[in-house]
Amino acid sequence: MKTLITNGTIVTATDTYVADILVVDDKIALIGQGLAAEGAQVIDAKGKRVYPGAIDVHTHFDLPFMGTVCSDDFETGTIAAAFGGTTSIIDFAIQGKGQSLQQALDTWMAKARGKAVIDYGFHVAIGDMTEAVNAEMADMVAGGITSFKLFLAYKGSLMVDDGALFKALRRAGQIGAMICIHGENGDVVDILVKEMVAAGKTTPYYHCLSRPPEVEAEATGRAIAFAEIAEAPVYIVHLTSAHALARVKEARDNGQPAFAETCPQYLLLSIDNCKEPGFEGAKYVMSPPLREKWHQDVLWSGLASGDLQVVSTDHAPFNFKGQKDMFGTGDFSKIPNGAPGVETRLYLVYSKGFLGGWFDENRFVDLVATQPAKLFGFFPRKGTIAVGSDADLLIWDPKAKHTLSQATLHQRVDYCPYEGTKVTGKPAVVLSRGKVIVEGDKFLGKPGAGQFLKRGQVWF
Ligand code: URP
Ligand code: ZN
Ligand code: ZN
Repeated sequence: MKTLITNGTIVTATDTYVADILVVDDKIALIGQGLAAEGAQVIDAKGKRVYPGAIDVHTHFDLPFMGTVCSDDFETGTIAAAFGGTTSIIDFAIQGKGQSLQQALDTWMAKARGKAVIDYGFHVAIGDMTEAVNAEMADMVAGGITSFKLFLAYKGSLMVDDGALFKALRRAGQIGAMICIHGENGDVVDILVKEMVAAGKTTPYYHCLSRPPEVEAEATGRAIAFAEIAEAPVYIVHLTSAHALARVKEARDNGQPAFAETCPQYLLLSIDNCKEPGFEGAKYVMSPPLREKWHQDVLWSGLASGDLQVVSTDHAPFNFKGQKDMFGTGDFSKIPNGAPGVETRLYLVYSKGFLGGWFDENRFVDLVATQPAKLFGFFPRKGTIAVGSDADLLIWDPKAKHTLSQATLHQRVDYCPYEGTKVTGKPAVVLSRGKVIVEGDKFLGKPGAGQFLKRGQVWF
């Protein structure tokens, strides 16, 4: 099957130029001016931008968490991702106590199989760092799982101790894997939460106060220090604060392979959202929490300067009615942590980051597609537009304007944290490995068409 995309402006992390792209089957076969191909389906991209399909390296579909399960599964979540211009995701397979990593992976593979409409990979979250797991980490890498997550928060459930953290980092350094860190000091958070609830401070706003930025900075700095001793790369997920960013920047300035992502919620929402009247603040309960507004500019400039490398989403949707309010109306610590965002990432980063003047269009592509692929071992198969790469392409209408609303989004969740936000730019056509899966408002993909992404060694 041949598809010819004509007259578009191709934008990669490094270049911007007008050219045609010939796609043969699932790969980019040729890039050039004035291309012709008999029998090809032609997509006229005049006036449009052609980006590599975006990559979201932090999603949670079908995640059991805090007494409930994220409202998107791999079908609804990846359809929403595709509508937003994302053509690959990396989700998290969580290892329960006593389980092998393979058991965790099998569980999450089964959730995705037959459902995902775009390609997917997994980080495995290590919850039980035994000797057997130490050995098994190498098997995971051989099987295309080249990154692991450790939670330094959620005491009593997902949290690991310092010994496990150090052991996992040391092993990752030996086998060419990346350790992803949820950087919050869970012991301190646990004490603050208990004190607040006991004092009757139970509204969603206190969720933010129970997890101050210093708690994030401490855990981030600790992981980075351990990574230095272990001679391993480290990647801080969902970084929210100037405090934590300073730790990452210091390490990077010293030449350490320390990396970090932030997410649109930390760039655009603030602690004020958690003060919204009634129980509305629960919509914004996530960990780490939303910060005071002034952190936002620090994060935007970190993305511009290169101190931060990636914008992911940490998409962890729970319905406001029926999930956020299930146990937590009288106790913020029982509100399921997380917010939706897999579909809205590009709208927000393009409109507020690129059009907002924080960085240029090449950096926009770098942040949402190229750096994720490089850091997580699947560049140049994905994350760029080059001959031989997968034909995961996003044809973007840079002039389309609309207002974000839960009513028109595809995420399976009953609210949008950015309701009423005006954005410019919209996917016109999305291709996944050469097949058109989104065209305007039409979904043309197929559940199960997404393939497991076997990833290679990390690139830095
Ligand atoms: O609040 C969040 N971030 N929920 C999802 C789990 C995690 O920590 O990534
Ligand atoms: Zn986390
Ligand atoms: Zn997460």
